[in-house]
Amino acid sequence: AKEPARVLVTGAAGQIGYALVPMIARGVMLGADQPVILHLLDIPFAAEALNGVKMELIDAAFPLLKGVVATTDVVEACTGVNIAVMVGGFPRKEGMERKDVMSKNVSIYKSQASALEKYAAANCKVLVVANPANTNALILKEFAPSIPEKNISCLTRLDHNRALGQVSERLNVQVSDVKNVIIWGNHSSSQYPDVNHATVKTPSGEKPVRGLVADDAWLNGEFIATVQQRGAAIIKARKLSSALSAASSACDHIRDWVLGTPEGTWVSMGVYSDGSYNVPAGLIYSFPVTCCNGDWKIVQGLPIDEFSRKKLDATADELSEEKALAYTCIN
Ligand code: NAI
Repeated sequence: AKEPARVLVTGAAGQIGYALVPMIARGVMLGADQPVILHLLDIPFAAEALNGVKMELIDAAFPLLKGVVATTDVVEACTGVNIAVMVGGFPRKEGMERKDVMSKNVSIYKSQASALEKYAAANCKVLVVANPANTNALILKEFAPSIPEKNISCLTRLDHNRALGQVSERLNVQVSDVKNVIIWGNHSSSQYPDVNHATVKTPSGEKPVRGLVADDAWLNGEFIATVQQRGAAIIKARKLSSALSAASSACDHIRDWVLGTPEGTWVSMGVYSDGSYNVPAGLIYSFPVTCCNGDWKIVQGLPIDEFSRKKLDATADELSEEKALAYTCIN
C-alpha cells in the first residue's frame, strides 16, 4: 500500500474549500489508489466553521482519507505537506482600492511562503488559486527561494476547461473530445483563450476547431469574451463565485502535473516564465504545458499570429503592472 500523501488546503472553511476537500478525499486529485492526509488551514475567525468541515470529513468515512489536521496555525498546517493548494486570501470588497487588496495578499503570501519553505516536504508542489492568483504565486516564489520555481504554479485550468466547454457546446460534441485550447497570461479578464491549435476528435480523425466552427467572428469575439467573463457571469447567477468548477479544475491541475498529461495533449498552467514566446521572464504566466514524471514543460514552437501576439503582450503587460504594484506593497 502507498504511503499517504499530505495535502494542504488553505482557506479550507471557504466555498472552494468545501467543494475541494471531498474531491481530494475521494481520490479525484491524486488517484483512487493514493491515500491522503488533509491539512486544512483557515484564520481564527473561521476556526469553528473549519472544525465543522473536519467533522463532515470524518462523517463521510472516505476510505482513502487517513487523517485530517484542521488548524489556524500556519506552521502546523505546512508541516510535511507534499501538495499545497492555496485557496485562502483576502477578497476584494466593494469600495476597496486594488492596492489595498494587493497589500493584504502580499503579506499573506509572504508569510505562508516562509512557512512552506521551512516546513513542507522536500519537492512540495504548490498551486495558488486565490486571486490575484498569478501575482500571489509570484510573491510566494520570491519569499520561498529554496522551493524550486518549477514547483510553484497558479490555477488557470478553470479558464482552460471553460474554453473546452464553450467549444463543445458550440459544436455539440463531447467535451472530452476537445483538446489543446490554450489560456495565455493572467487569470483575469485580460487572459487570452486561444483555439488556434485546438482539435476535436471526430469519427474521421482529429479536426481543427477553426475548421469545424468556421465562424471566425464568433471565435475571435464572443468566444473569447465569454471565457474571459465567465467568472463574472457565475457571480451574477449564483451571487457567489465559481466554487465547484474551481475545485474540480484544481484537481485536474494537480492530477495532470503529478500523473502526467496524455500523449498529444497539453493543458494550461500558470508557471514561471523563462521567456518562452517572448513573454517577459520572471512573471507567473499561463502557458500550454505537458507534464511527465511530475514536471511540466512549456510546449514550444507553436506559431503565433499577429492577432494572438497582441493579446499575449497585453496580458503580459497587465502582469508586469501587477508585479510592480505588488513590489510597492512589500515591507
Ligand atoms: P471564500 O471567501 O469562500 O473562502 C476563502 C477562505 O480563505 C475563507 O474561509 C477565509 O477565512 C480564508 N482565509 C483568508 N485569509 C486567510 C489566510 N491568511 N490564511 C488562510 N485562510 C485564509 O472564497 P472562495 O470562493 O473559496 O475563493 C477563494 C479564492 O479563490 C478567492 O481569492 C477567489 O477570488 C479565488 N478564485 C480563483 C479562481 C481561479 O480560477 N484561479 C476561481 C475562483 C475563485
